[in-house]
Amino acid sequence: MVARYNPAVRRSVETPCEWCDGTGWVVETKEGRQVCRSCQCQAARRVELLLLEAAIPERFRHCTLEGFKLWNPNDPTLAQAKRRTQEFVDAWPLVHKGLLFMGRCGTGKTHLAVAALSELIRRHRIRGYYVNFSELVVQLQMSMDGSGPSRGEILEPVLSAQLLVLDELGAARPTAWVMDTLYYVLNSRYMHKRVTLCTTNYTDLANRELGEESLADRLSVPVRSRLYEMCEEVRLYGEDYREHMARRRR
Ligand SMILES: Nc1ncnc2c1ncn2[C@@H]1O[C@H](COP(=O)(O)OP(=O)(O)O)[C@@H](O)[C@H]1O
Ligand SMILES: [Mg+2]
Ligand SMILES: [Zn+2]
Repeated sequence: MVARYNPAVRRSVETPCEWCDGTGWVVETKEGRQVCRSCQCQAARRVELLLLEAAIPERFRHCTLEGFKLWNPNDPTLAQAKRRTQEFVDAWPLVHKGLLFMGRCGTGKTHLAVAALSELIRRHRIRGYYVNFSELVVQLQMSMDGSGPSRGEILEPVLSAQLLVLDELGAARPTAWVMDTLYYVLNSRYMHKRVTLCTTNYTDLANRELGEESLADRLSVPVRSRLYEMCEEVRLYGEDYREHMARRRR
């Protein structure tokens, strides 16, 4: 698993806990006898490690559900998507389907998917993993010529995570071999009842006269149909939040 630099973990290593002095254990006197118990800092540290292992990119570490603003009163999909994500988090572990966030660039799809992932790590200490589809495609293609980690090493966290965020599905155009691997990943997660949150800029309705492509065009029909079974669609039809913020600043 790719371990990325996380200032929170670094801090917790560099500044020993005031209760246990970094040992993880505290000695207490109970009914005249000395007993040893795990220090409260250990639970917090475990959450930090799980967040680190989830490989959430720096850019999205700030994403929370509370932080998702219903900034556009003309866009009902913002509130619907936020509510659906909150329901997903609240229902864990009794969730049978993941979510497929669909919408244009900048509408908050990655924000919501990452918010759900980090909230579930904090609440339930799940093993989660974030991966960007294009990065996964490049890594897999590199593994073919032996210039990086092996296919097995790349896929281990993707297959085994209790909750996977597969970001920007369809953004890269993979080779047939990578497409087969993607089908294998989704199918394997489906068979083992592991839940996946996906995001994509593509929809099922493409205007071919305008040269548009559908999600199935980008990912193949078998992958699209697996996604139907694995994920419930959550649509974000609104505008680009970054554009909105830039306009406001101006
Ligand atoms: N409704 C929102 N409230 C707060 N921040 C938002 C909202 N929508 C998007 N953002 C922020 O705008 C940036 C782009 O959103 P992102 O989730 O990456 O969009 P998408 O994945 O749909 O392209 C991110 O930094 C995200 O945190
Ligand atoms: Mg995104
Ligand atoms: Zn401690």
